[in-house]
Amino acid sequence: MTPLVTARDVSLVYPNGYQALYDVSFDVHPGEFLVVIGLSGSGKSTLMRTVNRLLEPTSGTITVDGVDVTHVAGEPLRQHRRNIGMIFQQFNLIKRHSVINNVLYGALGSMSTWQALSGNYSSDQRETAMRCLEIVGIADRAHHRADALSGGQQQRVAIARALMQQPKLLLADEPVASLDPATSHSVMRYLEVLNKEYGTTVVCNLHFLSLVRQYASRVIALKGGRKVFEGMPTDITEDWFKAIYGEDAVEVEIE
Ligand SMILES: Nc1ncnc2c1ncn2[C@@H]1O[C@H](COP(=O)(O)OP(=O)(O)O)[C@@H](O)[C@H]1O
Ligand SMILES: [Mg+2]
Repeated sequence: MTPLVTARDVSLVYPNGYQALYDVSFDVHPGEFLVVIGLSGSGKSTLMRTVNRLLEPTSGTITVDGVDVTHVAGEPLRQHRRNIGMIFQQFNLIKRHSVINNVLYGALGSMSTWQALSGNYSSDQRETAMRCLEIVGIADRAHHRADALSGGQQQRVAIARALMQQPKLLLADEPVASLDPATSHSVMRYLEVLNKEYGTTVVCNLHFLSLVRQYASRVIALKGGRKVFEGMPTDITEDWFKAIYGEDAVEVEIE
């Protein structure tokens, strides 16, 4: 199967001279749920930002859906970003706006500037937005303000917004890091629905190994900006765990 994402020898040096990624190579296959693990500071977010091209790799190449996006700019870069949904630890909703409007913002990339500025969504778009909210189980909150929702519900709105975008690829950067364990699972399960039922390819940065074992179809691990592991969740033995997280690390279960 042709990979959806191909990263080859990607290195990233920040403007201050700090090198955050060293020759990272990996593929993401269509329909995968690839999880990236590693200690805080290992380069997980940097890697995501190079894939969605918020950052330009210093060297190496990134291809998405057959297009070399390593150095694209202008309209091809905007096109590339439209293909990618993003979910963040802090949800990134517009707090004072309604839930349904936050979901509709997922459609902005596909609208003309004039349409977007006027906020004239079609009835089709409104229906799609409601369907996206139904998928994540919060259609009844459509007209509440986003900041009136709990953290887990806000993250589900963010998932609905990403779904609205109909992305080829969904990047989730520690999507449950601000949530309690029970809520974490509820959010992870909706990401799983997007992946399994709607065929969305997911790349997700995660901290907890127990979540990785439950949701990932494949795993890569970063350490100090280098890829140090690639395999199936079941391949992460105690020895690998210590190699990735350090000798003194203890695995914490998230129930
Ligand atoms: N804008 C930046 N400028 C310089 N260094 C940065 C910048 N952003 C992140 N870093 C550094 O790059 C390394 C990787 O960061 P990051 O990708 O955020 O790691 P992770 O997401 O795994 O916690 C860290 O050492 C971090 O301090
Ligand atoms: Mg991070």
